Amino acid sequence: MEFSVAPMMDWTDRHCRYFHRILAPNMLLYTEMVTTGALIFGDKSRHLDFNKKEHPLALQLGGSSPEDLAKSAKFGEDWGYNEINLNCGCPSNRVQKGSFGACLMAEPDLVAACIKSMQDAVKIPVTVKCRIAIDDFEEEPFLYDFIKKISDIGCTTFIVHARKAWLKGLSPKENRDIPPLNYDLVFKLKEDFPNLSIHLNGGVTSRGIINSAYGKVDGIMIGREAYQNPWFLTEIENEFYGTPFPHEEVIIENMSKYLKNMLKTQTNLRPRNVTRHMTGLFKGAYGGKTWRQALSTLPESPDMIEKAYEAYLSKNSAAHNSPSA
Ligand SMILES: Cc1cc2nc3c(=O)[nH]c(=O)nc-3n(C[C@H](O)[C@H](O)[C@H](O)COP(=O)(O)O)c2cc1C
Repeated sequence: MEFSVAPMMDWTDRHCRYFHRILAPNMLLYTEMVTTGALIFGDKSRHLDFNKKEHPLALQLGGSSPEDLAKSAKFGEDWGYNEINLNCGCPSNRVQKGSFGACLMAEPDLVAACIKSMQDAVKIPVTVKCRIAIDDFEEEPFLYDFIKKISDIGCTTFIVHARKAWLKGLSPKENRDIPPLNYDLVFKLKEDFPNLSIHLNGGVTSRGIINSAYGKVDGIMIGREAYQNPWFLTEIENEFYGTPFPHEEVIIENMSKYLKNMLKTQTNLRPRNVTRHMTGLFKGAYGGKTWRQALSTLPESPDMIEKAYEAYLSKNSAAHNSPSA
């Protein structure tokens, strides 16, 4: 069983992934979606650079032109990514205007052509992330038709967000919460396509949910819970890979070192570009609020992670030393 952290725009940038990698040495990490236009016409380094420690790492692409996707996949392979993933699940208006993301699910022949073109361009695996259906389409035949057409050209890994996407009427955020989850359909998909690697995504927020899906799919992708409560990643690592829990001092030291190094090499980087991904670190712990506040209010400086940690520790130890604690 494989575990991964989902692609999340504005969230899973390289700094976030570096932080997640400290917590989860074995999980596959995904980039934010990068459009083919951004890679072909934009600053490739800005979109593709990463720290070697982030491996294993998948690049998620957004696009619908087989030629542009092939070029972009090749950039990703040359940059050192381990996998290229095509976004067929994002319902935002901006993405729909570009005719990619979830609306691609209505065009499985085009997706098949895109995948084939990427597969011809690179040697690393090309995978698909999709929903169970879009709009009024009936879920099972729609999903099965999609998976069949794409797998027929040799794509073997599908990450399925177990919700429909409504392309009109719901915002992207609503589309992550309102359409009901249907894990059973994803489990059935695995049963009916046993040779494919099927990964479940959507609403996985506890070990209980993971245990209920264990053995019924090949992998589980965690999105918001990984970001908002990063200790969840250490629980997964510990239970499913046997990784010892990391010490919080080690995480702080490692991230402080990373921040200082990045500030030396990236002149326009602001410390909060890195620290903003760490606000959930002490979620639920006494002093967690002090940590969050310190990260958002301390003046930006290379040592702000240490300073925020000191603030957290003094709050946390005050609680432990008080007579009522
Ligand atoms: C802030 C945010 C940005 C997202 N950006 C992307 C994206 O770039 N590509 C993508 O395929 N899915 C994106 N998603 C969807 C997630 O990858 C995932 O499918 C969704 O959040 C459901 O999983 P979860 O319930 O574990 O969060 C995004 C989700 C969030 C919360």
